[in-house]
Amino acid sequence: MISASILSADFSRLREEVSAVIAAGTDRIHLDVMDGHFVPNLTFGPPVIRSLGKVSRPMDAHLMVETPERYVAAFSEVGCEVITVHVEATRHLHKLLTDIRDAGARAGVSLNPATPAEMIYPVIPFIDVILVMTVNPGFGGQKMIPEVLRKVRKIREKINESGREIVLEVDGGVKVANIREVARAGATRFVVGSGIFKAPDYHATIEKLKEEVSLAHALSV
Ligand code: DX5
Ligand code: ZN
Repeated sequence: MISASILSADFSRLREEVSAVIAAGTDRIHLDVMDGHFVPNLTFGPPVIRSLGKVSRPMDAHLMVETPERYVAAFSEVGCEVITVHVEATRHLHKLLTDIRDAGARAGVSLNPATPAEMIYPVIPFIDVILVMTVNPGFGGQKMIPEVLRKVRKIREKINESGREIVLEVDGGVKVANIREVARAGATRFVVGSGIFKAPDYHATIEKLKEEVSLAHALSV
């Protein structure tokens, strides 16, 4: 349930950082792809992901890009298991999500903090992951916007009502200190960037993150 975002990793040693965080216990690798248009930052694309070589955990591409339609095939080809696009970045969300699945990846849809949950209700039958942004996308190390947890709870209810196996993932400002609250809001997958890569001990941090999530589940029964 922990997906380490490499945005805060040391890019001069990216392959080693990915191996280190996998050895430290992350379940997935979260790739923050930014184009400098949809968000005011520019990161990396398929060539960098290819340079990572064989990655022994599923990789999720979080496309914070305009016209995500242009990139679906490329991210599927470099082995991204989930391709997540922003509902705000396309006019034809249903078509884009089916294109992602046709390309052999799972389809994820992400909402910025101010985007209402209702925006993704019509595509619930066509998605595998809902990624709720708890920061304004573009940078790691930001503080979580706690009010967004209300939206997480709302989407959790909607997923339960639908009876579908959809992963509810939260991205932005997740730390050891707040992950229990995020889990109690109904999230089942947690993107953590600076909370891991800026910590002195990746393994101890990931263990603590997982402990907090298990505590949240224990408290909710
Ligand atoms: C922000 C990215 C997030 C971010 C998470 O645009 O989508 O994945 O890197 O990093 P932290 O955990 O540092 O907020
Ligand atoms: Zn992300």
